[in-house]
Amino acid sequence: MDLGLTGKRVLVTGGTRGIGRATTLAFAAEGARVALTYHSSAEEATTLAKELGGPERALAVPYDLTDLASVEAAVRTVEAEWGGVDVLVANAVRWGTRPPDQLPPFQDMPLEEWLPVLRGNLEGHIRTVQLVLGGMRERGWDRIALISSNLARDGMPGSEFYGAAKAGLLGFARGLAWDASPDGVLVNVVAPGLTLTERAWTALPRTVLDREAGFTPSRRLSTPDDLAHTIVFLCSAANGNITGEYISVAGGR
Ligand SMILES: NC(=O)c1ccc[n+]([C@@H]2O[C@H](COP(=O)([O-])OP(=O)(O)OC[C@H]3O[C@@H](n4cnc5c(N)ncnc54)[C@H](OP(=O)(O)O)[C@@H]3O)[C@@H](O)[C@H]2O)c1
Repeated sequence: MDLGLTGKRVLVTGGTRGIGRATTLAFAAEGARVALTYHSSAEEATTLAKELGGPERALAVPYDLTDLASVEAAVRTVEAEWGGVDVLVANAVRWGTRPPDQLPPFQDMPLEEWLPVLRGNLEGHIRTVQLVLGGMRERGWDRIALISSNLARDGMPGSEFYGAAKAGLLGFARGLAWDASPDGVLVNVVAPGLTLTERAWTALPRTVLDREAGFTPSRRLSTPDDLAHTIVFLCSAANGNITGEYISVAGGR
């Protein structure tokens, strides 16, 4: 099956770590050019971009979801280097600043703590899409994947603000599909469940990961590659007419 990704210009936000890194590598393996954004991991991003072949093949671009000027600067940088973006994977995430067991009750959460989570994880992505969409429409073949979370659907204690932003991405995608898909721009939401990223391995004990896997129909948690392969498919020529969908990659959970 030809995925039709050779030479396509892909922007993966949060491409330095976890699911984003796996996605960057998966697109590069298909012959795409990848601009990967970083927030704090400048060195890792620059090294990865070099490993992938340097400025013709890969760019490392600074990007902060919570700063719309930075969002715009990142898109303009890719446009200046490569002329546009054919595929956007909106994957970056602004996590909360406290571990779940240290969260105050919902009503006591300070505004300055939750607003960046809500706004970054929603506004930051919407603004990124807005900036790339004009060029996408003109070309008439483009793809967008918005990375949500099954917490948008299922919730857990402490997920109110993050969950609200992630659920908002679905409402956004359902509307955008009507607007952009007649012009050849297919937009989908990909929702990971708990995924075995470095962060998960560091934050959660093995017993918790095993227990969570046990509650999953497939009896295993997804890997970053499971997510990356789904994203690449949805953002490829092999996806002819899937748009506006919420696709959970969580072993049936
Ligand atoms: N892993 C899971 O279990 C899981 C479950 C459900 C949904 N998800 C979703 O899947 C996506 C990827 O998650 P992940 O677990 O792979 O993440 P991760 O390993 O924690 O990596 C987060 C990425 O986001 C970037 N980032 C952090 N703060 C940022 C900011 N303010 N502005 C822009 N970028 C920022 C980081 O860049 P730097 O490294 O440069 O700081 C990094 O590339 C996210 O949208 C997340 O919500 C993940």
